[in-house]
Amino acid sequence: MDAVEIIARKRDGHALTRAEIDFFVHGYTAGRIPDYQASAWLMAVYLNGMNDVETRDLTLAMAESGDRLDLSDIAPLVVDKHSTGGVGDKVSLIVAPVAAACGLPVAKISGRGLGFTGGTLDKLESIPGYRTDLTEMEFRAQLSRIGVVLTGQTGDLAPADGKLYSLRDVTATVASIPLIVGSILSKKIAGGAHAVCLDVKVGHGALMQTLDDARELARALVSHGTALGLRVTALISDMNQPLGHAVGNAIEVREAINVLRGGSPGDLADHCLRIASEMLVLGQRVSGIEEGLLRAREAIESGSAWQKFRELVVAQGGQVRYVDEPDLLPQAPVQEITVARVSGYVAAIQAAEVGLTVMRLGGGRYEKDESIDHGVGVILHRRVGDLVESGDPLFTVLANDEVGLERAQERLLEAHSLTDEPVRPLPLFYDRIT
Ligand code: URA
Repeated sequence: MDAVEIIARKRDGHALTRAEIDFFVHGYTAGRIPDYQASAWLMAVYLNGMNDVETRDLTLAMAESGDRLDLSDIAPLVVDKHSTGGVGDKVSLIVAPVAAACGLPVAKISGRGLGFTGGTLDKLESIPGYRTDLTEMEFRAQLSRIGVVLTGQTGDLAPADGKLYSLRDVTATVASIPLIVGSILSKKIAGGAHAVCLDVKVGHGALMQTLDDARELARALVSHGTALGLRVTALISDMNQPLGHAVGNAIEVREAINVLRGGSPGDLADHCLRIASEMLVLGQRVSGIEEGLLRAREAIESGSAWQKFRELVVAQGGQVRYVDEPDLLPQAPVQEITVARVSGYVAAIQAAEVGLTVMRLGGGRYEKDESIDHGVGVILHRRVGDLVESGDPLFTVLANDEVGLERAQERLLEAHSLTDEPVRPLPLFYDRIT
């Protein structure tokens, strides 16, 4: 068997065997197959797709490319969540402590930002001292002691995904259903999850731009996940505008803290309550969504979710006074509110443009391993559908200097469109697939 032959078979539209997929995935992970051949293979998969059997074989080959966590001695039913990536998506920071406060063990392995979409690890690292590199022993001990872990990869879980994803990012092969399914499910299987709630984003700021594409991806994730022994629920949620009001790193932690302290009702809180409720259903802690919503809301109102978040921060070495007094978190020095120049209804806030603006301010990476600035960001004061009067605050930019500020303001003004006609607010969720 050789790599050229396998690339040619996929290029010509043939289905690959499990042995061929294993050969390619393991060969690439081990460095025997170079990036240029893997790029050609990814493009062949992107263009010709994979059938169901190939997609599952790919998922298993990727899951078996490294270590596999078994957490069943600590938690018999491990429930995870995963978002396909968005702008302003700080949901994991909120739902992990909420679900844990409801008695559901949450062992969440998160990632860094990719392109204009933010990453939970980058956000958490705004809290001085917070460690995202727990060893497997520390991971297990913390899960059993406080019931919640939010960290980066421990050990060598699904290393094939780490390598393939970076290559997909620079070869225009990210938006391929079999590749996305393999990437997401392999990480969940390797991370020891038994059930997963998937937050599949749709819209201008998402991988899937149309509802049909998002449904196709969600169905594929649910059917392949189920066939591979996971319990999976997928929600299709809106990413035509950023989620919540804050986009950045420290600034998103501040917004998450506000929600956890019960001080920020609205779309973000509702979104998180729903995801937490789905996780409680998957974890068999409640009998249905309504009970799950009730329990999740109680966890916020009683303060138990907030206390769980503090425990999490302390357990992972973070200095808890920074979350008790979030104004201490990093904040870029140049902050300015931009007001609306005309009156009207907000018709659109281009999520991708907002994400790119924050990246440009220094809050995201252009190259792998680049360091980022946790203090920059954007606060959006309006949501799609809101009526704005001329002179009302539209957004606030947190920048390091005047040049960055002005560039961001121009871009964000372009990202907002206002109209004279009333506009319906965007829904939070479009569909639920089980
Ligand atoms: N999120 C992932 O983890 N992988 C993908 O391929 C796409 C989104």
